[in-house]
Amino acid sequence: MNWNPASWREKNAGQQPTYTDPQALKATEEKLSNLPPLVFAAEARDLRKQLGQVAKGEAFLLQGGDCAESFADFSANNIRDSFKVMLQMAVVLTYAGRLPVVKVGRLAGQFAKPRSSDLETIDGISLPSFRGDIINGINFDNAARIPDPNRMLEAYHQSTATLNLVRAFAQGGLADLHQVNQWNRSFVDNNPLREQYRQIAERIEDALEFMAVCGIDGNNTPSLHQTDLYTSHEALLLNYEEALTRRDSQTDKWYDCSGHMLWIGERTRELDGAHLEFFRGIHNPVGVKVGPGISEDELIRLIDALNPDNEAGRLTLITRMGANVLAEKLPALARRVHAEGRSVVWSSDPMHGNTIKASSGYKTRSFDSILLEIKQFFSVLRSESEHPGGIHLEMTGQAVTECTGGAYAISDADLAQRYHTQCDPRLNGDQVLELAFCIADFLRKP
Ligand code: TRP
Ligand code: MN
Repeated sequence: MNWNPASWREKNAGQQPTYTDPQALKATEEKLSNLPPLVFAAEARDLRKQLGQVAKGEAFLLQGGDCAESFADFSANNIRDSFKVMLQMAVVLTYAGRLPVVKVGRLAGQFAKPRSSDLETIDGISLPSFRGDIINGINFDNAARIPDPNRMLEAYHQSTATLNLVRAFAQGGLADLHQVNQWNRSFVDNNPLREQYRQIAERIEDALEFMAVCGIDGNNTPSLHQTDLYTSHEALLLNYEEALTRRDSQTDKWYDCSGHMLWIGERTRELDGAHLEFFRGIHNPVGVKVGPGISEDELIRLIDALNPDNEAGRLTLITRMGANVLAEKLPALARRVHAEGRSVVWSSDPMHGNTIKASSGYKTRSFDSILLEIKQFFSVLRSESEHPGGIHLEMTGQAVTECTGGAYAISDADLAQRYHTQCDPRLNGDQVLELAFCIADFLRKP
């Protein structure tokens, strides 16, 4: 295979910044390529194996986190809250689905954003668009908007600190099943849908108590108080990804060690483009976002390019179509994938196809359309004999008001209260947990 970590440079790369100082860029790339990897190849292989189970319907994938991480919002509390809400969802899904849940955060690298236009114009002044903190600054002034290669180093260091904390949380007590279920119990106490959800949280508690009586507890069974949270991000900024790509000494294969799983966005998945070229050579598990415009042939070609050996767990197709549009477009795609015997993980991103502008002017998404898209995802794939393997959410543990609806009925008028996202509207802690209870229902009742 004629590939190396830099071979993408010969292809057309969409959504890249224009760096003005090539020497500074080169110096930064060199520095980055000498820094330690963020993740290890063996961990990426473990995740790939677990995703192989998801592809076969033997596990469920839960992927979620911020639309974009930011330098300003970087704090231990923020990371802890995201971690907590991921685990709260995971417990509900594990229990209800009777399946292991593979937990993958959109974190420790989710900094770069694709934009619809290179320039943003306000009051007759045009500046480069904000492309995420790894590239330039969000403030609308000339100095902030010039792409600065040093931001790659800052993103790298923030990612190492994030990952360090996540690893500590996952191994050091915060992931204890009893504790996570206690959080769910208190969520239920305050929630308007209390009765509906109390049952499941109580049953989990019963199961844990029963096991404890039988002598199975955290002291003799570490898996009760530990978990794995893998990292993922859209591998958009190829300079950064190339610099963190390393050859694994055990297998001699290349891995992008900036995160365990990487995905390609809907806007950069051209078959002859730079992102496809980069992805085909790395051995991480990879994802690709699939919108409603894709044809069946194009999808098969994409699968062949990214997973030529048809290995379960290598490739996750993340559908993002919008409620109702998905019900119309997904059946033919799923039927074709099934007929051609391609092994993929199907995961639903119910966020990006359901973005609307509220009358208040805020970009928002409604809980109901998000839920409807997930519901349709489950029913379409089941009727095409494929596994609804997972979900991919933009969410935060913080009590933001960015998406409307849910049990607390956030309205258009409420959006202004705590609308903090740097990018797309995220589900808040209450909304995602409510969603987990709903998805648990779909998992239980095929
Ligand atoms: N180790 C198991 C797992 O990760 C069980 C577990 C421990 C767990 N703590 C958890 C599951 C928190 C979900 C959430 O699946
Ligand atoms: Mn987004």
